[in-house]
Amino acid sequence: MSPLPPDRFTEDETGLTEQTWRELRQIAARYPQARSGLLPMLHLVQSAEGRITPEGIEACAEILGLSAAEVNGVATFYTMFKRKPVGDYHVGVCTNTLCAVMGGDAIFARLKEHLGVGNDETSEDGKITLEHIECNAACDYAPVMMVNWEFMDNQTPESAVQVVDELRAGKEVHSTRGPRLCTWREAERVLAGFPDDRADEGPAAGPASLVGLGIARERGWTAPEAGASKAVQPTEETK
Ligand code: FES
Repeated sequence: MSPLPPDRFTEDETGLTEQTWRELRQIAARYPQARSGLLPMLHLVQSAEGRITPEGIEACAEILGLSAAEVNGVATFYTMFKRKPVGDYHVGVCTNTLCAVMGGDAIFARLKEHLGVGNDETSEDGKITLEHIECNAACDYAPVMMVNWEFMDNQTPESAVQVVDELRAGKEVHSTRGPRLCTWREAERVLAGFPDDRADEGPAAGPASLVGLGIARERGWTAPEAGASKAVQPTEETK
């Protein structure tokens, strides 16, 4: 097979492309200990293959000098790594305690019914994979839904249905925090450490997440210097 030009991103049903092999090696080379690159390498495999494939596991093992069983152990430990093909959009509904009582359970039930799928299943058109997920550290915007790991804050069953319908219709949809939603494979490539230059679209944290920071600034509270070993003494206000 002749080498692919660096800007090509192709799929090859019979195995990983030369570009993917090259990029897997690039990731491994970023770290003083190459095996530290395993997680981003697995994300790249997902981006290229649509899931963790046996070929992807073998490639990571070969590059890192690990056994396939060791790579497999990591790939099966983390729920972000998928053995079944994922749809164009991974929709994760937080059903952890706070989101659940604020409406997450109702959103998940409505989407299951609307899409005709169960947990961790993909709609017939291959567009949406639905999964219930644990706390996304966005409880201040409960109930929260993630699309390819972008936040959709303060959702309702109706807004969630609207989001998946617009995605299935090929419309441009934005996270409630700003960024345009890309496909799951594109998001996986970013998680592998190949930025898509959209990191600055929208704020990183919404107003509700910054309330504590505002209070701290108002009262002149600061964090201890990095490396300071002394415990922070409570003030009259914090006692
Ligand atoms: S419980 Fe849903 S984001 Fe924390």
